[in-house]
Amino acid sequence: MTPPDASGAPYRKGELALPVDVMRAAGHRAVDLIVERLHTVAQHPPHAVTDPANLAGLIGEPLPEEGGDLTELIEWLSREILPLGIRFDHPRCLAFVPTTGNYPATLADLLTSAHLSVPGAWFVGAGPTGIELATLSWLCDLLGLPAGWGGLFVSGGSVANITALAAARDHHLDGDLTGARLYCSTQAHPSIARAVHLLGFGRDQLVALPPDSGNRLDPHRLARRIDRDLAEGQRPFAVIGTLGTTSTGALDPLPELAGLCRDHGLWLHVDGAHGAAYAATERGRPLRASLQRADSLTVDPHKWLFQPYEAGCVLLRDPALLKNTFRMDRHFLDTGYLHPAQPRGGQINLDDYGPQQSRGLRALKLWLSLKTFGAAAFRRAIDHGVDLAEYAAARIAAHPCLRLETPPSLGILTFTCRPVTALDAASTDELQRAVSHGVCADGRAMVLTTRVHGRVVLRLCTINPASTRPDIDTTLDLVVDAARKHQDGTRAPRGQD
Ligand SMILES: Cc1ncc(COP(=O)(O)O)c(C=O)c1O
Repeated sequence: MTPPDASGAPYRKGELALPVDVMRAAGHRAVDLIVERLHTVAQHPPHAVTDPANLAGLIGEPLPEEGGDLTELIEWLSREILPLGIRFDHPRCLAFVPTTGNYPATLADLLTSAHLSVPGAWFVGAGPTGIELATLSWLCDLLGLPAGWGGLFVSGGSVANITALAAARDHHLDGDLTGARLYCSTQAHPSIARAVHLLGFGRDQLVALPPDSGNRLDPHRLARRIDRDLAEGQRPFAVIGTLGTTSTGALDPLPELAGLCRDHGLWLHVDGAHGAAYAATERGRPLRASLQRADSLTVDPHKWLFQPYEAGCVLLRDPALLKNTFRMDRHFLDTGYLHPAQPRGGQINLDDYGPQQSRGLRALKLWLSLKTFGAAAFRRAIDHGVDLAEYAAARIAAHPCLRLETPPSLGILTFTCRPVTALDAASTDELQRAVSHGVCADGRAMVLTTRVHGRVVLRLCTINPASTRPDIDTTLDLVVDAARKHQDGTRAPRGQD
């Protein structure tokens, strides 16, 4: 039975459009709110916390059958809803991998949305395809990857990893996954394990080795394990090295991994979601030689190339191997409607290189921000993050209440608060968690914990170009203060006994 609404009525012309003056007014207001958001971020806490009940009270309404006022809705979303969560671009948000976004990139997203840009088939989106190819080529240039490398933009590091590993699987295993083995360290990102699952492997086929004392994949241990697996008749085919582990910023020893992969004929995938951007700088230049020896590379422009979500990228030394896995005519069904979109001459259909057919023009964000600011500004911004981590490390090392646990690596460091009186491991771990809670609750900075060699530590990621030395000083003062308060609080009851 048809519900009692107007769904049976014919479409009224213009119902899904707006008058030009309304469009302009809403658009101008949206841009004003965006600029205000970007310019006032530091005046707010880095984390606006809410709970599901509160959120349900704000947005838990029934499906609206009738429309409302667009400008008012934009205003409400900008003020009440979208700020709820982490403000990653806050200068004292030192949690996770805080991207900052940038204004040209924001406008790029608006433009691609308005133009319905699809860099899928050339016939459908020649201009967008051209932009994506040009941006890929700039990105390769930035990272020192030689001519011939290529790939495509994807949603982020997770999809870049699965896309690269799909190509590796098809290149090496020819449809038979039996006994196949991939290797990484336990410090690799979980998207690797998820990719392995989605690609049809069992969990036991991913060998995640314990890292060395520097949280890196240990090449000797890896070599021994590969030899053992070969002796047992298994089929090693890929190694995943991480360039910048999320926890400590550690760099797996890529030259050694590349040598091992060469000797055994294995695919080397480098997950550089966080760290690959460092190769753009003068100091990071030595990384380039190792990157060039990889078969595939994940880069996340929505991390250290300062792009808003979503902007990930997968690059291959031989991008034809992506086409081997993903090209439409390999996965043929009765798709006569696609024939008009087949590439001709030098045309390229990027939907042959990855899992999506209709795909947004994510590359435009990076293109427009590179054109607006220039690559040199990006290099300086990356360097700034590295310098700031060095500064934070020096302050921590010199502070009597703090202890540097892992040195700064790719803008990430970890440290602990020293207990005032001797504590067991569990209470020392609890102290670090309490400090993190205390700092976040204060609302002036955001510092979270991670686990290093089984122990809880505090972690800073200092890649925001807007963060300053005084921001680090303030944050460390808040850390020390939170540690003191927690220890005062836990000692007091015992003293009263
Ligand atoms: C090393 C590494 N790889 C992969 C990912 C996943 O990237 P995304 O969140 O863009 O899917 C991350 C995210 O933090 C990461 O740090």
